[in-house]
Amino acid sequence: PPTSISEVSHVKTMDQYKEMYKQSVEEPGKFWGKIAETFYFKKQHEGEFFDYNLDIRKGEVYIRCLSDATTNICYNCLDRNVKSGHGDTIAFYWEGNDPMDSTSITYKKLLDEVCKFSNVLKSLGVKKGDRVAIYMPMILELVVAMLACARIGAVHSIVFGGFSAEALSSRILDAKCDVLVTADGVYRGTKLIDLKSIADEALELCTKDGHSVSACVVVKHITANSYCDDKTERPAMRPYSGFKMSWNKAVDRSWEDLMQSASNECEPEWMNSEDPLFILYTSGSTGIPKGVLHHVSGYMLYAATTHKYTFDYHCGEVYFCTADIGWITGHTYITYGPLLNCATSVMFEGTPLFPDASRYWAIVDKYKVSKFYTAPTAIRSLMKYGEEPIRKYSRSSLKVLGTVGEPINPEAWLFYHKVIGNESCSIVDTFWQTETGGHVLTPFPGCTPTKPGSATFPFFGIVPAILSDEGVEIEGPGEGYLVFKQPWPGMMRTVFGDHKRFERTYFTKFPGYYVPGDGCKRDEDGYIWITGRIDDMINVSGHLLSTAEVESSLIEHPQVAEAAVVSKPHSVKGECLYCFVTVLQGSEFNKELVKELKEKVRHHIGAFSTPDYIQNAPGLPKTRSGKIMRRVLRNVAKGNRDLGDVSTMADASVVEVLFQNRDYTV
Ligand code: WTA
Repeated sequence: PPTSISEVSHVKTMDQYKEMYKQSVEEPGKFWGKIAETFYFKKQHEGEFFDYNLDIRKGEVYIRCLSDATTNICYNCLDRNVKSGHGDTIAFYWEGNDPMDSTSITYKKLLDEVCKFSNVLKSLGVKKGDRVAIYMPMILELVVAMLACARIGAVHSIVFGGFSAEALSSRILDAKCDVLVTADGVYRGTKLIDLKSIADEALELCTKDGHSVSACVVVKHITANSYCDDKTERPAMRPYSGFKMSWNKAVDRSWEDLMQSASNECEPEWMNSEDPLFILYTSGSTGIPKGVLHHVSGYMLYAATTHKYTFDYHCGEVYFCTADIGWITGHTYITYGPLLNCATSVMFEGTPLFPDASRYWAIVDKYKVSKFYTAPTAIRSLMKYGEEPIRKYSRSSLKVLGTVGEPINPEAWLFYHKVIGNESCSIVDTFWQTETGGHVLTPFPGCTPTKPGSATFPFFGIVPAILSDEGVEIEGPGEGYLVFKQPWPGMMRTVFGDHKRFERTYFTKFPGYYVPGDGCKRDEDGYIWITGRIDDMINVSGHLLSTAEVESSLIEHPQVAEAAVVSKPHSVKGECLYCFVTVLQGSEFNKELVKELKEKVRHHIGAFSTPDYIQNAPGLPKTRSGKIMRRVLRNVAKGNRDLGDVSTMADASVVEVLFQNRDYTV
């Protein structure tokens, strides 16, 4: 048997990578066309693969690929694999929060369930193009619900289960969703999250705003156990008989009841390549989050191809991505990518620290996981517990370790490689975004020589460039704005309901390029290193938050006159929120206010956005034209008195006051 991963990997050498890469960018039609042949299209495509304009100076920005073909992504994820003899292959091993709670589902059974739920959605009046909101924990029903939407051509809009009622309602409203799918609740560790009551509150807020959903489908997850193999009652875990759930007869529908009578046959809706597949909201520098819209065929090709090459996935291997499906990583690398490649995945409901810090490695050994994908923040939180919880398990099945969500610090990278990977795994640091649909910069396992902290080189079809402030391309080593020069199949097509915002956000700063909003540098060997956001976005544990979003929650408080939010480095989260708050004259800045402000932000966005620091700011540093100088505030947050050039500041004395108030951060 081969001893080194490169002997079996899809791409074995850098020369092979370069050759494939060259074709992918010079003849994208040929490159992607060949990949498209491995999928089922009801109607084949004729003509050019791509049709696009990325240059706003030449008119409206648009990207289309395979635009005259028809297909269905759910069919390609399920029916195609069942028809080719993989009906009995395990699609998912589901591992519950409680280590005793687990089950699995085959491709055939998943197809049955998806067809049933497709029929349920149809019976609720959902048609092609309608939006369905999904607010669920990491349970198999979530995958069933999203694939059922894809099957009937409805657009799913999944909202991460950690978002608050307000955040959920604003997303339902923006997309005008007709139906919400949710669950009674979920345990994360020993903490019970009452999803249904959050959903109830969100629906009430929607109704107040003049939009009511026609149905709210509720999975009984902790009060029943539809897919659970082990039916023993485990109090404080699921199934949990002491849980009281409210029930609104007018809109609430029981998942179990609806599924019971549904037929398991459902002809897929044959979708045009450029029909929308899903909306996923991501923070924007202004206003409400942007509904990133992905479309059927391009996303399908890109999700499958990146999953295959980046993880060097081979049929029969067990793959485990620890993300939540509520984020893009879960969409592309738990549901679509793996299923399109007929993979067997682990879907995990719990947290890395429950019941103890070795949970991931217990799972890796239990299912013989060979490809593992997580976030730097998870690695850092595990580093705190030392090597013992890791060494306790063999992890000998592991071959590829992936990371995503934020720049990985070399210390965490080395821990991942040396301790978790026993120095025998390839590390893939994958850079991408909700908007890109899949990986855009990444090493290939067994092929690309890596450097700790660098996402290395572009994926197939991606043409990166680095621009100076003036928009001039920097050749060779240098630092600047990361941009992409050509479209790729998985690229977002628009912001839901606001194409102008799409053009403004990504194509206006440097006309002719897609601008992701990250800075980067290129070293002497051509490796790309992401340096972080260039806009007012803060990455907390891999979750992007906009400073404007947090500031507007803070200013809502009646005692707050002004607020400015910046990032402060954090040993586990990467970055955390540091808020400067100016109270109204006559109001007092005290512990009580800080508590209320933290609560406000949680309420607006969700628990993961809770600020770590809130400090009193009698005045904020501003330019003479009144712009808040965030650069100065970032230094105050860090306690760094070396402020650089402050000649444009209107009143420099406010800064000293801020330094004096640093101690009172509560
Ligand atoms: C950051 C997550 C450095 C980056 C898939 C990007 C990264 C934003 C990396 C997108 C990485 C993601 N190295 N930075 N490997 N991966 N980022 O939309 O700032 O939730 O623009 O997508 O996360 O976050 P999003």
